[in-house]
Amino acid sequence: MTDTVLLERRGAVALATLNRPKALNALDSQTLEGLEAVVAQVAGEGDARALVLTGAGRAFAAGADIEAMRKMTPLEAEAFGRLGHRVFGALEELEIPTIAAVNGYALGGGCELALACDWIYASEKAVFGQPEVNLGLIPGFGGTSRMVRRVGVAWAKEIILTGENLKADEALRIGLANKSFEPEALLDAALAAGESAAKRGPVAVAMAKRVIQQGQDADVRIAHAIEQQAFGLIHATRDRDEGMDAFLQKRDPVFQGS
Ligand code: CAA
Repeated sequence: MTDTVLLERRGAVALATLNRPKALNALDSQTLEGLEAVVAQVAGEGDARALVLTGAGRAFAAGADIEAMRKMTPLEAEAFGRLGHRVFGALEELEIPTIAAVNGYALGGGCELALACDWIYASEKAVFGQPEVNLGLIPGFGGTSRMVRRVGVAWAKEIILTGENLKADEALRIGLANKSFEPEALLDAALAAGESAAKRGPVAVAMAKRVIQQGQDADVRIAHAIEQQAFGLIHATRDRDEGMDAFLQKRDPVFQGS
């Protein structure tokens, strides 16, 4: 495992930390590949019930690595974009809830990385933005699509077309971040949210996430059909029997994940 992204366990929750603090966790190929390895490890081991992603030092991630990009040919830049999309896509498709604990700057590719997580908790010191137009660039790791889906097209356009940064309170107000916390309380809050999801039926959590993901890009009638089928299928699980029996017997459920 590369040391550009650290992986540890906190109870039922995996904690991944971008670890290039001197460069404000700027995303170069090595860091993206480190993140890809961490996502694959979490998916492969299969026992973490949520993932929290944060950054070491004063940034979550200050974007794709500008020094590296400055030297790229168009074809190299396209390949770099594909790498970012592949890694963020794998993160988005993890079957467990993923929470971005945004401790500081989440700019450009760093903001796009936070958007690839299921939701964002922000430190009161967090700064969000898509400043690519300041560099004569456009977002390249999914910002044009994921930002629109998260905050709506008008806010996405204002953020991306002006390149202006947003503080945590505004990110909260427009729904980019779900909650904000004092800096020292952020990580515990994100881990607690992960633990909360970890207590629930794992098959149900995974299936609900998948149905939301598939449904958000589909026609609403298709989205409803996907939900109806998944709702039928979830009744074939042992966890469904256990969850409902526990309720009726007035006890806590013990889910097996099957
Ligand atoms: N790429 C490479 N290095 C970066 C970086 C980045 N995105 N962001 C910061 N760094 C480096 C700085 O070069 C500096 O390195 P040195 O100490 O070796 O000089 C170090 O991190 C600390 O940064 P600053 O000295 O600039 O710190 P600051 O507190 O004065 O400013 C900041 C912080 C406002 C975040 C500023 O660093 C900044 O504006 N960074 C760039 C943000 C940006 O434009 N991000 C978008 C990148 S493009 C992109 O992401 C494309 C895409 O969608 C795929």
